[in-house]
Amino acid sequence: MKHIYQEGKMGKPTLLLLHGTGGTERDLLPIGNMIDPDAGILSVRGDVLENGMPRFFRRLAEGVFDLEDLVRRTKDLNNFISKAADDYGFDRKNVIAVGYSNGANIAASLMFHYADALRGAILHHPMVPIRDQELPALTGTSVFIGAGTNDPICPVDEAKDLRSLLEGAGAEVQIHWENFGHSLTRTEIQAAAAWYQNKY
Ligand code: MLT
Repeated sequence: MKHIYQEGKMGKPTLLLLHGTGGTERDLLPIGNMIDPDAGILSVRGDVLENGMPRFFRRLAEGVFDLEDLVRRTKDLNNFISKAADDYGFDRKNVIAVGYSNGANIAASLMFHYADALRGAILHHPMVPIRDQELPALTGTSVFIGAGTNDPICPVDEAKDLRSLLEGAGAEVQIHWENFGHSLTRTEIQAAAAWYQNKY
């Protein structure tokens, strides 16, 4: 997958940056830097194109996902992270996702399918990626959800359901609410950074 890798300081997590629909691997670099300037960075470009816009999996309509494709792309991304860990020499067990919108959804899907894909995740404006799915044990996984009380793309119940499903699997989850629709605001990033710095 097309990506950018930047080595972090010894012992620091690697931030897996996952952009929103129509983004690229460059989009979240400033956010990664705000969260932890010493962390490693693995920033990936989604390899699905929707009218020329990169995404991490196909959708049939806005908010309606092609689940077969989602499952396959989630596996591909998980394998890609493992291969990148081998190639670049970072700790596969110390990867924390930072995703926005479609990128947050594939990060959630990684946790829905694989117990050890992520040590933690910052999910900006996510949805429940797949329902009626038995989640792996996620004890020890910490998740920050940034959501909008008036987000037309990711409604309030999606964020709340996502929290319940992750908590049901043993993850520790915190939700931060904003009221700027689907936008990713500076205050939301600052809240995510404060959460991260308290934990890692
Ligand atoms: C998705 O397709 O993952 C969600 O609808 C969010 C987005 O528009 O990317």
